[in-house]
Amino acid sequence: MENKLVKLDIIDLAFNGKAVAHLDGKVVFLKGGLPGEKVLAEITSTKRHYDEAIVKEIIIKSDLRISAPCKHFGICGGCAWQDLIYNKQLEFKRKQVADCLERIGKIADVKLHDIVGAAELFRYRNKMEFSFHVTGDDSFNLGLHHRGRFDEIFDLEECLLQSDTANRIVHFIRDFVKRYNIPAYDIINHTGFMRFLVIREARRTGQIMVNIVTNKGNIPTRKELIKELRTAFPQVVTLVHNETALKSNVAVGEKEHVLFGVGLIEEEILGYRFYIRANSFFQTNSIQTETLYRAAFDLLMPDKGDRVLDLYCGTGSIGIIISEYVREVIGVELVADAVSAARDNALANGVSNIEFVEGDVKDYLRSDAVGDTPFDIVIVDPPRAGVNPKALRRIIRMQPPKILYISCNPATFARDAATLFKAGYRLPEVRPIDMFPHTMHIELIGVFYRD
Ligand SMILES: C[S@@+](CC[C@H](N)C(=O)[O-])C[C@H]1O[C@@H](n2cnc3c(N)ncnc32)[C@H](O)[C@@H]1O
Repeated sequence: MENKLVKLDIIDLAFNGKAVAHLDGKVVFLKGGLPGEKVLAEITSTKRHYDEAIVKEIIIKSDLRISAPCKHFGICGGCAWQDLIYNKQLEFKRKQVADCLERIGKIADVKLHDIVGAAELFRYRNKMEFSFHVTGDDSFNLGLHHRGRFDEIFDLEECLLQSDTANRIVHFIRDFVKRYNIPAYDIINHTGFMRFLVIREARRTGQIMVNIVTNKGNIPTRKELIKELRTAFPQVVTLVHNETALKSNVAVGEKEHVLFGVGLIEEEILGYRFYIRANSFFQTNSIQTETLYRAAFDLLMPDKGDRVLDLYCGTGSIGIIISEYVREVIGVELVADAVSAARDNALANGVSNIEFVEGDVKDYLRSDAVGDTPFDIVIVDPPRAGVNPKALRRIIRMQPPKILYISCNPATFARDAATLFKAGYRLPEVRPIDMFPHTMHIELIGVFYRD
């Protein structure tokens, strides 16, 4: 069956960004292709319950298809749908939320709003991570992952999701590393030095941070790097170097050195200033974050007397912004760097009714630290895995009247919603928000009520 060429009618788009067709009663996930298209495809792998295929030729083209503006589209693992008109991207994302609520959450009577589209379809990201990757010819690539491959990086010329300046910084760093013969890291043998380049660019202030993540050791030509980078890019306000000996392929350092500037940049969200450090989470689409937070607060309708627990609080942005409308906020976050930035953020914004606790949400909820004073609102904004099941049980035991759930994964949102339903919570409405045009990522919010 593998390598066989087949004609397929594409009927849908799947959660993972692939197209969906049926063949002999089995589902086929295809790389390429849009709903309504007839394609000639090659089966690339056969599994028990589904097949995988790659589109070789489009026989009948969809009216929804447009020409993708990015030169790396199709190869790059970042954008899946640049070739699909934006309104349809939004429709498919909304449908995926509906499917998850129905299939995983078994939730039928919730009002699912239309997805709120993004104002900017390109150049919207305030953070991009690029990997160094050794190539066979004693050289290296600096860029993004090939679609579906953790171990293949293509040499990036331009990414349309980041600014032109950020693209020029990628070229500058690549050229610098080549000129000074600094070895790139080899993820198979764990040898070499340069691992990642992370660029963060605040949209409201224009400040840029360049973060270089390496294997253990000093950057050999750091004086030259500082001088040349500052001359070429005065917008770069800080350069940081993160060292890590960890084998896992993540752009996070164990030891940080600030090579110039103060090791952070400032961004503005809804009129508040936020410090962003290299290793702490910050929403990556600043402009659409304002839409997300506004929609969340509109749904939540906080009260001046409310006591709020902000779980998975990152650098404290939600808690700090909501603090104005409530009595008191406690934020809980695992990453020390983020907690320290959150405390600085509260101070910088003159917010005094907020406190941050460093730790795992599930341990915090089990500990004495949580206290006996009830919370009126619990906010959860977990990573893709959703709320830890033990943590969710502990939240339920606390019986907060309102739980605001901000999710970046409709599947785990639906799973957690089912648990909350069983515990007596109701969810009148869900609002999906598109933070990442052309990619398959979906953000959604809902407020659960206990009567
Ligand atoms: C999606 S981010 C949300 C951050 C923040 N609410 C915001 O809007 O900027 C999830 C955050 O949860 C933190 N986190 C992940 N697992 C955690 C855990 N078990 N306990 C506490 N925080 C955790 C991550 O470090 C990250 O900052």
